Amino acid sequence: MRGLRCSLLITGVVILVLCVVGTGQHQAAITVTNVITNVAKTVLSLVLDGRYSDAVQVDIKLGETRTTRGTTVAATGPYSQWASWVPHLCPHHLRRTTLPPGLNLTWEPPTERTIFFTQTSCTSTLTPREACAVESTALHHPGHPLLLLITSPTINHTHPLMQVVLGLAGVRVAWLDLDQVMNQPPLDVWHTHRLWMINTERASAFVSDVVRTELLRRYGGIYLDLDFITLRPLPIQPLTSSGRHSQTGRHHTPRNWLAWADHRLVTLAISSFTKGHWLLENIVADIPRVFEPDSCCSIGPDLVTRHLYQRCSQNLTTQQNHFNNQSYAIGGTLATDNNTHIITQTTHTKNLYSLVGQECNGTTVFPKTFFYPVHYGYGKGELKSIFTEGAGLGETFFSKSTAFTLHHYNSLSARALVSPAGDSILREAFRRNCPRVFQLLDEAHVFF
Ligand SMILES: *[C@@H]1O[C@H](CO)[C@@H](O)[C@H](O)[C@H]1NC(C)=O
Ligand SMILES: *[C@@H]1O[C@H](CO)[C@@H](O)[C@H](O)[C@H]1NC(C)=O
Ligand SMILES: *[C@@H]1O[C@H](CO)[C@@H](O)[C@H](O)[C@H]1NC(C)=O
Ligand SMILES: *[C@@H]1O[C@H](CO)[C@@H](O)[C@H](O)[C@H]1NC(C)=O
Ligand SMILES: *[C@@H]1O[C@H](CO)[C@@H](O)[C@H](O)[C@H]1NC(C)=O
Ligand SMILES: *[C@@H]1O[C@H](CO)[C@@H](O)[C@H](O)[C@H]1NC(C)=O
Repeated sequence: MRGLRCSLLITGVVILVLCVVGTGQHQAAITVTNVITNVAKTVLSLVLDGRYSDAVQVDIKLGETRTTRGTTVAATGPYSQWASWVPHLCPHHLRRTTLPPGLNLTWEPPTERTIFFTQTSCTSTLTPREACAVESTALHHPGHPLLLLITSPTINHTHPLMQVVLGLAGVRVAWLDLDQVMNQPPLDVWHTHRLWMINTERASAFVSDVVRTELLRRYGGIYLDLDFITLRPLPIQPLTSSGRHSQTGRHHTPRNWLAWADHRLVTLAISSFTKGHWLLENIVADIPRVFEPDSCCSIGPDLVTRHLYQRCSQNLTTQQNHFNNQSYAIGGTLATDNNTHIITQTTHTKNLYSLVGQECNGTTVFPKTFFYPVHYGYGKGELKSIFTEGAGLGETFFSKSTAFTLHHYNSLSARALVSPAGDSILREAFRRNCPRVFQLLDEAHVFF
């Protein structure tokens, strides 16, 4: 490829850009200017971050960005040869000179049958809630392949929660190697430029959004965020004894679906797709163009929703109210327990999927109540009801709810802990759906 080399030297506030252009091609020049601007932003932010020395040298070739830093360790750590992204995503790995101790993981992609999870914050163990997400899904899908993909190259396999997860039949733990996930256009270039590293606070969320989309596009499968607890078998085709998807099992179970997460957004946070699906192709094609590292929502749910509206504005807008009313009519009751309202689904009918799912070119958009029985707000009956103790809400919820999952919005709720001896909805969800994780916590009197 015809190249262009730039040297960018930053010392204090002085920025020098020295370029040697090998071609007069206009198109290329524009791209290169963008690249330079973006790389300059990256470098500046790193410098301002104070994490790197004040002299930074950047080598740019078209479609390839390589950064070398005077005195910093990124280029000499154990990842430099095989995974330069690790210190970028996982700052605490930055100064390591050896791999963290533990079990070394290797990359493994999902298949169309796999139920998979991703952990992109570089931890080598799971939290109790994350472990429960995996165990509860395994519990309700015996024999189904489950794959937990994590960005840390090693896991602490002696940690009790990891021992539970590793001991679950059908569950595999593998390394989420971004170099492997994003080695195809257009994300290969996006990955090389790695602008997400500008925003250290959101990097792991950006990576999570992009990785799930690309994995579903390339391999298909059923994806779940780690802040769902599975309460009953998901609306996916069960496997026959030969391990293939049953054709005669649950009827009307679509292969391609996703769900409303609130009145405004459709997300992939829980979703099922066959590989090469048009929606995911369109989203992935758009990511490099629309991604803004400074903003919260340029990719992720907003992009998913935008693409659905682009294709199916008619069905999504005209059915929005209708569908809200209907899903409440079918599933919604308002249980009053000492001022706490819980919105639960009460009925399942055989044709529930076709009745309440909206259709968009062969893809089903399930209502919020299927997977998000509790709203994330702070009002009555909303998120805090999951953690409320002393009101018997756990039993009440489970006597009424027919939701497939409980979503506990971990980013909002991580600090609200419940007692293993209490009567909260979260505790009851653990006790019924992830008994091994629950037993560990209960025996050790650990709040979760
Ligand atoms: C994990 O990989 C590292 C680097 O390749 C190696 O030094 C280490 O011995 C491996 N650990 C195990 C338990 O295999
Ligand atoms: C792994 O987990 C165990 C149990 O929590 C802990 O004692 C140990 O220090 C951990 N090892 C590493 C390398 O973090
Ligand atoms: C939805 O319910 C509201 C309140 O009951 C009602 O005013 C509205 O007309 C309904 N919308 C549709 C499309 O049925
Ligand atoms: C809109 O929904 C109707 C009814 O479910 C369906 O027949 C039609 O194919 C949908 N339109 C698109 C573009 O998917
Ligand atoms: C609709 O779905 C079909 C088959 O899945 C696909 O080939 C086509 O590209 C989709 N249409 C649009 C406009 O995305
Ligand atoms: C509501 O609170 C009262 C006292 O505060 C208690 O006696 C009653 O059992 C509670 N009801 C439920 C359903 O938890």
